[in-house]
Amino acid sequence: MVLLRLYLLAVGGYFGCCLASYVLQVDLFSFAVDDPGIIVSQSAYVEQEQNRSYLSGHLIFNKTVNEITMRSSMNISRPRLPEVRLFDVKLNVCQMISNGYKNRFVRVFYNSYASFVNTRPACPIKANFNYTLTRAYLNEKVLPELLPQCIFRMQLVFQHQSKPLAHMQLNGRLSRA
Ligand SMILES: *[C@@H]1O[C@H](CO)[C@@H](O)[C@H](O)[C@H]1NC(C)=O
Ligand SMILES: *[C@@H]1O[C@H](CO)[C@@H](O)[C@H](O)[C@H]1NC(C)=O
Ligand SMILES: *[C@@H]1O[C@H](CO)[C@@H](O)[C@H](O)[C@H]1NC(C)=O
Ligand SMILES: *[C@@H]1O[C@H](CO)[C@@H](O)[C@H](O)[C@H]1NC(C)=O
Repeated sequence: MVLLRLYLLAVGGYFGCCLASYVLQVDLFSFAVDDPGIIVSQSAYVEQEQNRSYLSGHLIFNKTVNEITMRSSMNISRPRLPEVRLFDVKLNVCQMISNGYKNRFVRVFYNSYASFVNTRPACPIKANFNYTLTRAYLNEKVLPELLPQCIFRMQLVFQHQSKPLAHMQLNGRLSRA
């Protein structure tokens, strides 16, 4: 614990910063459907405004869905350092949207984006409902202090009953304001 704190202090010193404030820029936000019999309509796009990226899109399911798993992985790369995998986890989406995960990282990310959906997401996922995400952004203040400046690549792979349903890609960069 002490060592970790010292390391973080050293990293913070290296970046010459005290109270971090970040700029999170998303360069790519894409969503692709793997089972067009279940997801019948979708869109995903990103808008850049000043130093924030806004994500919007919609999703319509053709049938009620009770079970979705999500494999979420993220790689980061920094100048002169090898690319590293930050995490690679498999989550139960219904458990995540009912706030069943205690993991702070999962909760913070999920809650910041869920508030931009036109309904409180819940399982079962409704058929023929236009789930719309409107100008969602991550409040940079929820990010932990002393994150490295990096380029990130995040991939979300969704499955329904062990069959590919859809996949999403989110690429961007985190820098100091
Ligand atoms: C929606 O689902 C129904 C029954 O599950 C199916 O008959 C229909 O073809 C589907 N529609 C599309 C656009 O895939
Ligand atoms: C992320 O890194 C792992 C190894 O650390 C690699 O196998 C994988 O292809 C990388 N993914 C992307 C999207 O670059
Ligand atoms: C769903 O909502 C989005 C955002 O309002 C809209 O752009 C899209 O056309 C709608 N799709 C359908 C099929 O109603
Ligand atoms: C980010 O945007 C804010 C508000 O628009 C502005 O005050 C700030 O100077 C910008 N920072 C950078 C690094 O562009």
